[in-house]
Amino acid sequence: MSMTTHHRSSLRTLRATFVAAVAALAAAPLLAAPTWITIGDDAYALLQKVAPKSRTLASRNVTVNVPVQRGSAALTQATEGVHAVEIDDDMIPSLSMLVHRDLGKCGGFAQHYSMAEALAVLHRLESTPEPLLAPSYAIDNPVQVNALMPQLQASNLLSTITQLSNFQNRRYNSSHGVAASNWLLTQWQGLNPGNRRDVRVRQIPHTWAQKSVEFEILGSGNSGETIVLGAHLDSIAGGGIETSRAPGADDDASGVAGLTEIIRVLMAGSYQPKRNIRFIAYAAEEVGLWGSQAIVAQQAARRDRVVGVMQLDMTAFQGDATDLWIYTDYTNAAQNAFVANLAAAYLPTLTVGYDRCGYGCSDHASWHNAGYAVSFPFESANATYNRLIHTANDTTATFGNQANHALKFTRLALAWMVELASDITPATRNEPAAAAAKSAAPTPATATAVRVSLAR
Ligand code: BES
Ligand code: ZN
Repeated sequence: MSMTTHHRSSLRTLRATFVAAVAALAAAPLLAAPTWITIGDDAYALLQKVAPKSRTLASRNVTVNVPVQRGSAALTQATEGVHAVEIDDDMIPSLSMLVHRDLGKCGGFAQHYSMAEALAVLHRLESTPEPLLAPSYAIDNPVQVNALMPQLQASNLLSTITQLSNFQNRRYNSSHGVAASNWLLTQWQGLNPGNRRDVRVRQIPHTWAQKSVEFEILGSGNSGETIVLGAHLDSIAGGGIETSRAPGADDDASGVAGLTEIIRVLMAGSYQPKRNIRFIAYAAEEVGLWGSQAIVAQQAARRDRVVGVMQLDMTAFQGDATDLWIYTDYTNAAQNAFVANLAAAYLPTLTVGYDRCGYGCSDHASWHNAGYAVSFPFESANATYNRLIHTANDTTATFGNQANHALKFTRLALAWMVELASDITPATRNEPAAAAAKSAAPTPATATAVRVSLAR
């Protein structure tokens, strides 16, 4: 070997070592990196156990709408403590594990990209602002709704739920979670066989392995105004990342199946919306609403104006006699009234109840916190939800291998979407809450540099 060759090859080795080191650094879990969460009272109590050294930056009593009595449509107001906390990023998995294991009811948290964002969210929640954009809630499109709604099939819902449940799990960081996202992309692409030019199907990459999936139909008449129907793609249960069994049939294959069936029916009916409509299967909800947090943050950078959002998370298990439950906290009262009116108009045989589920219990919180009008119709009262979620037994067997309950929510969501998407009247713009938040956001006792966690 000549001197030059040797020199070159050692340079190559050096370069390879450097590249490998950089790659290893990028892939290594960032230990002891600060991250910021907002968290409701119930989960905050658990946080003290897992991360006693976490630093509470600010606590606020947030006013939320609650039914006067469980079930009733009349609302009153209650307060709930919400806290902005700085914790180590590597505490998040144990926090999410404890929340899922120990909390007999839902009680969540949302993880943020900076301390400033966590504090701004707290401030916005405290001031309970009007949504940034409010559309007309007139019910004036019965011809299209009544033509499309009967085409929704429970058997198709069950088929999608079954296929999603067949993945070992759909964890945000497992190979199965990645495979489930790829599978859903293929399914949704298959629903646009003629490659309509106003339709775009894509995966949304994140800083973790599982991608969110989006199916969009561009509106023809109300440029830039957008409606979002969401559900979460991931599932969770205790145990190993690759080996744990988490079918997540109810939580939340049922919601994703609803989106898929609505897409199928709209495409089969050559439906053309006036507003843009987006169906989003969010990645990584179960670990702190990550997918929806990222997508809402991206949304702020786009020119599209989101005028209405709905979340379907758990629709298959009927926990009590009431058909449709509308959750009133961290959602928009005006849009909730619209959803109830839609049920009365289009699903008159169904009964509607009202309940609350606490801070950060699903992806609707990400939208609500950023000032968008969002609703969260749910399978049961909060006291009677499916207790087998987050276990290996969240299978279709729990709801008798049928999807009749899920069909009610899918119908409701289609009516909501078609009624809102067919409007050409622009939404009313309210005072942006973000500007106010900047001036008056609570400041933590000691200011630390704002660093963005890379661990997700
Ligand atoms: N689907 C559940 C939320 C839920 C459970 C709502 C029971 C109503 C009744 C969701 O996927 C979930 O598990 N959320 C967590 C919060 C998350 C940020 C860790 C929760 O509420 O415990
Ligand atoms: Zn869920």
